Amino acid sequence: MRISENKIEEIRSAADIVDLISEFVQLRKRGKNFIGLCPFHNEKTPSFTVSEDKQIFHCFGCHTGGNVFKFLMEYEKISFIEAVQEIAARVGINLEYEDDKTGKESEQEILYEINVLAARYFSDNLLNSPEGEAARKYFHERKIKPQTMRSFGLGYALNGWENFVEFAKSQKIDLEKAISLGLIGQQKDGRLFDKFSDRIIFPIFSANGRVIAFAGRVLENRESAAKYLNSPESSIYFKGRILYGLSFSKDEIRKVDKAILVEGYMDLISLYQNGIKNVVAVSGTALTEDQVQLLSRYTKNVVLLFDADTAGIKASMRSIELLLKQDMEVKIAALPSGEDPDSYINKFGKDDFYELIQKAQNFIEYQTSYFENQHYFKEHTKTAEAIRELVKLLSLIGDELKRNLLLKSIAKQFNLREKLLETELDKIIKTQSKQDSRRLQVKDGKPNKDKSTLSFSALENKSDPGFIFEKELVKLLYEGNEAIIKLIFSHFTPEDFKYSYHQKLTSEVFEAFQNNDELSASYLIARIKDEELQSYLMEITFEKYSISRTWDELNHELEDDKQLFKFAVDTIKNFKLIKMEELIAQNHERIEQAESEDEKINLMKEKLELQKELKKIKEQFSQGNLY
Ligand code: UTP
Ligand code: MN
Repeated sequence: MRISENKIEEIRSAADIVDLISEFVQLRKRGKNFIGLCPFHNEKTPSFTVSEDKQIFHCFGCHTGGNVFKFLMEYEKISFIEAVQEIAARVGINLEYEDDKTGKESEQEILYEINVLAARYFSDNLLNSPEGEAARKYFHERKIKPQTMRSFGLGYALNGWENFVEFAKSQKIDLEKAISLGLIGQQKDGRLFDKFSDRIIFPIFSANGRVIAFAGRVLENRESAAKYLNSPESSIYFKGRILYGLSFSKDEIRKVDKAILVEGYMDLISLYQNGIKNVVAVSGTALTEDQVQLLSRYTKNVVLLFDADTAGIKASMRSIELLLKQDMEVKIAALPSGEDPDSYINKFGKDDFYELIQKAQNFIEYQTSYFENQHYFKEHTKTAEAIRELVKLLSLIGDELKRNLLLKSIAKQFNLREKLLETELDKIIKTQSKQDSRRLQVKDGKPNKDKSTLSFSALENKSDPGFIFEKELVKLLYEGNEAIIKLIFSHFTPEDFKYSYHQKLTSEVFEAFQNNDELSASYLIARIKDEELQSYLMEITFEKYSISRTWDELNHELEDDKQLFKFAVDTIKNFKLIKMEELIAQNHERIEQAESEDEKINLMKEKLELQKELKKIKEQFSQGNLY
């Protein structure tokens, strides 16, 4: 399916961002905007803002922001195209009969199509080809049924180096794109080869069930090759935002309001095949904040089921912290040593498995027994250390009531005065909130490539008053007020803006203006495709207007169009004056440095002209000649 730009715009303008976000976040009206608690970071006072007329949202805490599509992408951790499709379905726009020729096919759509072809190809190898016999035998030995292979789209990459390459050519697959998806590799001499060779293939699905990547496992544990080979990240695959198996298990997770989190692909598939369907796998990476956020859309109750080895314990500890931070209820189920969920269910069966989950410990019990096993409680200093660790975990819990109850249980268990623990807890919370606010100020821009985490205050050139005027004018342009846009462009063109961000943002409106396009705020904002520009725009459009001589009087009424127009006039005038004064200052400098009398005289003439101009601007505006 192909979706044209026009169609995307149609879908965007048919949706209402306040309606959409209200389904997930409790919003209340404040002034022209709506505010609520940000779903993208933990906060107690709302800094998440939604503008109905601009059809955008922005969080002042974590700097996430954008339009309806962006909200859904972030909230459900899905790709742009998936968000477009979901919103189209919500507003009742049918995409199925889109004419292929009307728009250029989106890049992401092509990638999905390639992955689907590849997945079918691998699956066909496994299920039907003679060369797939070894793989079929392998799965049989691991007790995976053919039906399960089909459900999970499992496959097999044939032994050899050009099987997939040949297939891709025969299907007219864009080879460059197949390379970027990690299906095909290219040697220095240009020769193409299969990235997956003689491997079991697990397609990786997005939460919506689209094939976004592949993992390939060696058939036998060969020393020479990595056990798993995973697709690289691409514009449809961000590995830290994906939970393997979620598309299969999400309904069940919602239904039973609990998710079992395992480490491996095979763990998930085995459990699922055995009827334990509320399971997801982290797969490949350590659990990330994004993955927890994604899971929290379905349930707040998580049971960790990691291997009992040291790596598994470490992963559990780290995951517990992440989960607690996002207000999840965490329990940890302990496997007998040497087993993983897949081997356990096959050896002991479903009943024992349920019992294992039943007996899952809460994180305090889990941590305590870990410390016990490590003989922490035999020494005073080590005991203190262990208790401090426990309190540290407590401090991650946002809910005060819950925190206090757990604190009581720790006090009881170790026979300690509650007051002592409270003091310790307060100390930790204080240093943590300091660190958090620092972390939010200095954004690193990683690891989510498409999450706008940049803080733009660094861009701001405080010593240049022109910067602020430019910024205010850009903000005014994106109010979607035709009269104001016309006024601004009767005085300036994009080239008058010195800072590249401002220049680009101005050009975009200028173009729409010249083409007699729509000039509504939401449309203009939606035109900006560049991620960085977009987040800069989000950041500034939600700022208040900060520089007007009459700011104090205007402060409350700026929302009204007449006042906004007055403010625009004021800003235009001041920006012109500043630019003129800049020219005069430059001229002055040149006069000082002039090397001949002639040059000096010419410059003096120029100076008079500039001063005349300056006066003219002042007069013009005081007489009310605005254009
Ligand atoms: P395991 O080594 O426990 O493998 O890695 P497994 O999933 O149980 O596989 P089987 O049962 O031996 O077939 C757990 C998970 O870690 C990731 C994979 O997601 C795997 O499922 N992993 C492991 C990799 O990404 N690369 C590797 O080389 C190894
Ligand atoms: Mn395993």
